[in-house]
Amino acid sequence: MAVRFVSSFTFLLLLTIRLAFSASIAKSKCPDLCGNVSIPYSFGIGADCFLNPWFEVSCNETSSPPIISLTSINMEVLDFRLDRYEYVRVKSPIISKNCSDRETSRGVNITGSPFFFSGSMNKFIAAGCNNKAFMTGTEPTIVGCESACIDNRLFGPNNTCNGETCCETVIPSRLRVFNARFESKESQSEGCKLAFLVEEKWFDVNITDKSSALQNMDYVPALLDWGIPDEALGLPKKRGREYYCTGYYSMHLEPYYLNSSRCYCQYGYEGNAYLLNGCQDIDECQDDPQKRCGDATCVNIPGHYQCERRKTWVIILGISLGFGVLCLAIGGWWLYKYLKKRRNIKLREKFFKRNGGLLLQQQVSSSEGSIDKTKIFTSKELDKATDNFNKNRVLGQGGQGTVYKGMLVDGRIVAVKKSIVVDAEKVEEFINEVVILSQINHRNVVKLLGCCLETAVPLLVYEFIPNGTLFQYLHDQSEEFPLSWETRLRIAKEIAEALSYLHSAASIPIYHRDIKSSNILLDEKYRAKVSDFGTSRSISIDQTHLTTHVHGTFGYLDPEYFQSSQFTEKSDVYSFGVVLVELLTSEKPISFERAEEGRSLATHSILSMEENQLFDIVDARVTKQTKDGEVVMVATLAYRCLSLSGRKRPTMKEAAMELERILSLQKDSNVQHDQEEIDCVKIDVTYPWDGASTSTGSVCDSGNAFSRESEPLISSKTK
Ligand SMILES: *[C@@H]1O[C@H](CO)[C@@H](O)[C@H](O)[C@H]1NC(C)=O
Ligand SMILES: *[C@@H]1O[C@H](CO)[C@@H](O)[C@H](O)[C@H]1NC(C)=O
Ligand SMILES: *[C@@H]1O[C@H](CO)[C@@H](O)[C@H](O)[C@H]1NC(C)=O
Ligand SMILES: *[C@@H]1O[C@H](CO)[C@@H](O)[C@H](O)[C@H]1NC(C)=O
Ligand SMILES: *[C@@H]1O[C@H](CO)[C@@H](O)[C@H](O)[C@H]1NC(C)=O
Ligand SMILES: *[C@@H]1O[C@H](CO)[C@@H](O)[C@H](O)[C@H]1NC(C)=O
Ligand SMILES: *[C@@H]1O[C@H](CO)[C@@H](O)[C@H](O)[C@H]1NC(C)=O
Repeated sequence: MAVRFVSSFTFLLLLTIRLAFSASIAKSKCPDLCGNVSIPYSFGIGADCFLNPWFEVSCNETSSPPIISLTSINMEVLDFRLDRYEYVRVKSPIISKNCSDRETSRGVNITGSPFFFSGSMNKFIAAGCNNKAFMTGTEPTIVGCESACIDNRLFGPNNTCNGETCCETVIPSRLRVFNARFESKESQSEGCKLAFLVEEKWFDVNITDKSSALQNMDYVPALLDWGIPDEALGLPKKRGREYYCTGYYSMHLEPYYLNSSRCYCQYGYEGNAYLLNGCQDIDECQDDPQKRCGDATCVNIPGHYQCERRKTWVIILGISLGFGVLCLAIGGWWLYKYLKKRRNIKLREKFFKRNGGLLLQQQVSSSEGSIDKTKIFTSKELDKATDNFNKNRVLGQGGQGTVYKGMLVDGRIVAVKKSIVVDAEKVEEFINEVVILSQINHRNVVKLLGCCLETAVPLLVYEFIPNGTLFQYLHDQSEEFPLSWETRLRIAKEIAEALSYLHSAASIPIYHRDIKSSNILLDEKYRAKVSDFGTSRSISIDQTHLTTHVHGTFGYLDPEYFQSSQFTEKSDVYSFGVVLVELLTSEKPISFERAEEGRSLATHSILSMEENQLFDIVDARVTKQTKDGEVVMVATLAYRCLSLSGRKRPTMKEAAMELERILSLQKDSNVQHDQEEIDCVKIDVTYPWDGASTSTGSVCDSGNAFSRESEPLISSKTK
């Protein structure tokens, strides 16, 4: 581009210069025209307009057409030509004899001038019947010719000068004198005879009917040549860059003649070589670049031009290459974007499949639209909600995954669970949780808002439960906000109600299978929310148990289930029992601070109760806040729940009712300070550690309620 611009700029510049100079081939401020004949320097009209007095031109414009004369030789000029083939075309006289209608002209003698008749461009013609004509002043050389006679005419019928009526001959070079004399061939030869020097080309080509043309002419055109005397030439004679001069040396023929030169513009330049900076470069590319260079780019250079094929080729190649690369880059970019998009979609589809999307869809279709409310979130939505799963947003980490706090676009605070490992089993758990949770609508069960299956690891979106887990609350309990007895009682009741609902009230019975304090969440009012349904199972109504791989958390695991691999609703009851004991004692389900046999809280509590040491294990803060009777009642319930035989455990419904009752008593007692009398509660317990043995215990207000003597009581009710 830049190159092109520069070159075109240069061209414009050159064009301007050329226009400026070609405007005049005469010296500046000198007339360059006489009539419509241009007068080139070194000729000139008026003082200081010619190179040398030899070249002075006069212009008489009073006559029409104007008379142009070379004053130094007193010859009338027809026109000038001043280039490589420069000449002055002058009026050459016609010498005649015995012509009725014309008088003979004077001859020419320009001896001593730089001008002479061009030997190559002019010829001598003699016409007339029986003519014999000679040039004078060429002595000792005799120049002339003779013709025959046909019809007594000047020129023959074919207008040729082959000796019939007309003859011609070449002239000597550097002829400066011209005249002719006629000789009679025979006595009878009469009539008009002509002789003249004429421009050969004009005579041969331009005049077709020579007889009639010459009849009326006073003169014929002839061409003068000349050399410029060295002393007149104001230019260095040596070869210049734009012009050159060649010498016209004086020959032996004309010993008196001065040394002289002629100057020309160099090849590739045009203009007037005698003028200062008269020769200007020809832009050869201007006239017909196609012809000069074909498809290549024609580039003008001083004196010449270049066909820059390679450059053009390179430019075209460069441009096409650049364009190609650009296209490729754009195409590549689009392709990349497209492939990336496609890959992302594929990936999301893959994840969706791997994450059980199909399973979920299947579940959706088979569960009659109850999952409709569960929203499928996009990965983008959840990225935004959790600030790209920022570490600062982590609420907790568990066996199943990490839980992040997030905020949806609509402002809802949510908990996003991101599974850690994705294997087939986990996927099943995950989908299971989605399906189960979406079927449950209970105030004490954490609500599932939706899920996202497009990511590498499946994501679950829950309502956000702000106060952490019961486990945290019990075991990392701050002194400032200890859990009151009433709250503990209420939490126990709520868990029991939730499980009762899961076991019986929900459309399909659901076993939670992983009840533990760390799966109980606490909301802003410390209400229990049962969570983590990853291992839960829903079973058909007529089924009573699930035969599975033993699954659960050590410390909460039902020993009967552990032995038989048969999970029943009573297995959840056992786990609930452990939570109940945790609520009573604030002890961890497994603790290595306790003696070996009491490492498990369940065992520890049962042993303590049976050894009548219940109040040794109950949290001191609890005993301070309540009547012992309530503690005993709860402990009794826990004791029953922890029965080694599932059959002997109460159902969750019974447990919930019992806790409801205790809670109402507690409220009453708070109002009335009236303690209800509590008698013994007798419970049948089978211990895992002594397989077959059956123990019987009773719970009493005072004394050991958990002895192994009493007969089993089916009912938990006393009295
Ligand atoms: C110009 O030509 C006219 C007629 O052709 C003539 O009368 C006149 O004298 C000429 N003038 C000069 C200066 O030669
Ligand atoms: C030159 O001038 C003559 C008359 O002065 C005219 O007849 C002729 O046509 C002109 N030639 C051109 C080329 O203008
Ligand atoms: C031509 O003129 C020169 C002088 O200028 C003279 O010496 C010579 O004799 C003349 N020639 C003829 C043939 O008249
Ligand atoms: C004229 O020329 C033609 C051929 O160009 C020739 O045949 C003919 O004889 C010529 N006429 C005379 C009178 O020489
Ligand atoms: C000129 O020509 C005529 C015939 O046309 C002739 O009678 C006369 O003698 C000729 N004159 C001379 C001097 O030859
Ligand atoms: C002869 O004729 C050509 C074209 O027909 C023309 O260009 C040229 O000027 C003529 N020559 C003369 C001396 O008139
Ligand atoms: C003309 O040029 C030749 C060669 O340069 C030289 O020998 C001769 O003296 C010159 N004659 C005159 C008159 O200047």
